Amino acid sequence: MSLFKKKDYRSVYNYYVTESKRIIEKYDKPMVLKMDCYNEAEIHPLNKSLIKNVKGFKKLVMIEYDEEFIKQAHENLKGYDNYEIIKGDIRVKQEDLKDFDVILDLSTIDHVEQESLETVFDNYASYMKSDGLLLIVAWVKMKPDDKKINDWRSTNQYYHDYYFFKEKLLKNFLNIEEEELIIYERDNNKRLYKFLCKKC
Ligand SMILES: C[S@@+](CC[C@H](N)C(=O)[O-])C[C@H]1O[C@@H](n2cnc3c(N)ncnc32)[C@H](O)[C@@H]1O
Repeated sequence: MSLFKKKDYRSVYNYYVTESKRIIEKYDKPMVLKMDCYNEAEIHPLNKSLIKNVKGFKKLVMIEYDEEFIKQAHENLKGYDNYEIIKGDIRVKQEDLKDFDVILDLSTIDHVEQESLETVFDNYASYMKSDGLLLIVAWVKMKPDDKKINDWRSTNQYYHDYYFFKEKLLKNFLNIEEEELIIYERDNNKRLYKFLCKKC
């Protein structure tokens, strides 16, 4: 178990990049699928775009819901040709996406409601090669969040119930190779976790 010394966003972004790099480097020129392009849009002053900081992949494909973020990301990634951004919703299966070596969900899944977790994990499994790896960083709590499906906005932040989250994850991903508690906010019981998973 490793907890950040500082619970700030700089540490979180740095963690996204260093962990993604570590997983990507396990493969020779992998195909990488990443959820959302918030970092690539550089909305937050601390944002670190993966493509500018991690080398060695064949292609980076991203699925993003927000058209403005997609536009902004393309602006910031001018000059890079090894990426593609799909306008989509991670809850909806993209039938033509398959054979990815690495899938990265760096706190996108905590923007979908609990009722959709199973579908999202099912989608991720279908996009992945049999020896691929899924890296997830997500906020959880030890009790369920009470937001309902009809409240959904892509800007909502959810804190999934840890046990429910893991139960749904294990339906499609047999092996949780690594699990790490990254941030623990004792006063409100929020926890940022990392899971590194292999497909069933
Ligand atoms: C506020 S950001 C946070 C995650 C981000 N990786 C980070 O750097 O912390 C959430 C991103 O996920 C996107 N998003 C939320 N729900 C989504 C969905 N269902 N499908 C695709 N993208 C979604 C948002 O548009 C936004 O770009």
